[in-house]
Amino acid sequence: MCKNLINISDLTKEDFNQIIKFSKQLSSNNKPLLKGKNIGLIFEKNSTRTRLSFQVGINDLGGNYIDINLDALNLKRFESFEDTFEIMSCYLDAIIYRTENHQKLLTASKFFKKPIINALSDLSHPCQAISDIYTLQEHFKRTKNIEIAWMGDINNVLYSLSETCSLLDNVNLHVFTNIDIYNQKKKLFKKADKTHFHFKINDDILKRTDCIMTDVFNSMNDSENKENILRDFQVNEDMINKTSKKTVFMHCLPAKIGSEVTKEVIKGNKSIVIKQAKNRLHAQKGILKWLDI
Ligand code: CP
Ligand code: NVA
Repeated sequence: MCKNLINISDLTKEDFNQIIKFSKQLSSNNKPLLKGKNIGLIFEKNSTRTRLSFQVGINDLGGNYIDINLDALNLKRFESFEDTFEIMSCYLDAIIYRTENHQKLLTASKFFKKPIINALSDLSHPCQAISDIYTLQEHFKRTKNIEIAWMGDINNVLYSLSETCSLLDNVNLHVFTNIDIYNQKKKLFKKADKTHFHFKINDDILKRTDCIMTDVFNSMNDSENKENILRDFQVNEDMINKTSKKTVFMHCLPAKIGSEVTKEVIKGNKSIVIKQAKNRLHAQKGILKWLDI
């Protein structure tokens, strides 16, 4: 059976650490690991960082990427989704797939006989979580005893981050969110032993956290507008002033400035969002190497 990266739960702790090690190695030294390999990119939703970091990463590792528009295939006429992915295995060595429906990713991985990478689904965003832990470990120069405070929505980015924290030693996640959102989503977090939910800002946690992280209050394809119910969790100067000198601010981007974060914070001296975005490239290479395409 081939390796896939659909969710962080596809990885053991050793796999995760290996991806981080490969990411570090390839950040300064490209190898032609993908020479002669053809990798399909399917993006059903918009993307800047994930798309470009995979495209550049594949180029840097000597491979070819092929942008696939599902609407231009015979899938649009009468060929089934299952058959389409089975046929793609005849030509492609791997697929990187962003979809609005996680179930489609699971079906695709059953019929496509080679590695599939989840480039974000409505459920999860494992590539982002890997890269964000890489960034935290690089910034703090340690792999353990890291505390993250997440502000706002319970979404795909948080889900993968929470799965990652469960995998690692002493990386703890405090989620500050609205109780109704939590009640809708709590089933997803049954096994998340390193994730703690709070419904009111807690100054003691702010004081000791290494990182304040957030994401948009409304993800792509969300039907409900959560701007109002999440207003108290906006990362602004008042909140940042309660943190310590060492605390950094992270956001996977794109950010809706004035909503989940203010301009002063995202452009301020605690923000490492540009470094975070840059590290996506290193992490994508680590993932591609780990998949052994
Ligand atoms: N963070 C992230 O995945 O960004 P894109 O949507 O631009 O790929
Ligand atoms: N939660 C966001 C992440 C974008 C990278 C979304 O799904 O729109």
